[in-house]
Amino acid sequence: MILGTGMDTFAFRRPDLLSQVQVFEVDHPATQAFKLNRLAELEWEIPSNLHFVPVDFTKESLADALKGTSYDLQTKSFFSWLGVTMYLTRNEVFATLRSITDIAPVGSVVIFDYFVPEEATSHIKEMQEDLRKIGEPIKTTFDPSTLAFELESLGLRLHENLSPSDIQERYFQSRTDGYYASKHVRLARAVVE
Ligand SMILES: C[S@@+](CC[C@H](N)C(=O)[O-])C[C@H]1O[C@@H](n2cnc3c(N)ncnc32)[C@H](O)[C@@H]1O
Repeated sequence: MILGTGMDTFAFRRPDLLSQVQVFEVDHPATQAFKLNRLAELEWEIPSNLHFVPVDFTKESLADALKGTSYDLQTKSFFSWLGVTMYLTRNEVFATLRSITDIAPVGSVVIFDYFVPEEATSHIKEMQEDLRKIGEPIKTTFDPSTLAFELESLGLRLHENLSPSDIQERYFQSRTDGYYASKHVRLARAVVE
């Protein structure tokens, strides 16, 4: 399940994995409509295991949106939620995480990235100002030292809480394309209990 999928092309890049899993792209209706148009223009074939679910996290619950889709409540699931928590309010983030613990079986996994409050350096402030100007203000940050406690109240156990340098070391150090980890974002991996 790829929440706030944007232009992510996982389902098109990894046909090897797609033969083993069902992929759900859950995104804001406007973004998803744009993407579906682009896919049609490009004449990309939509794999039969790929499902599109339009949801506005500020207006409806993920659990309700998945009702009536082919999402199987019995199957352990992996929820990837990248580049989204910062644009929602804390209540909206928690409501979506609660939806995950409501619908997904024990052992399901959610990963999400988040901004940290004390990292409000001048560089971050500049970036926040730029984001605000384009209508995407940063609304939510998490304190890494209390995240485990906050998630526990939702029925999630925090298994990993990677710092920017952890992310750099694990995912970027052997890359040769010049990409590097954001210096301001942490990555959490939590398991439904
Ligand atoms: C910065 S993009 C991240 C896209 C992708 N996950 C990635 O990492 O490349 C933010 C995504 O969050 C989605 N999003 C923002 N607000 C949302 C909302 N209220 N409901 C659903 N999706 C939302 C946008 O539609 C967009 O796809």
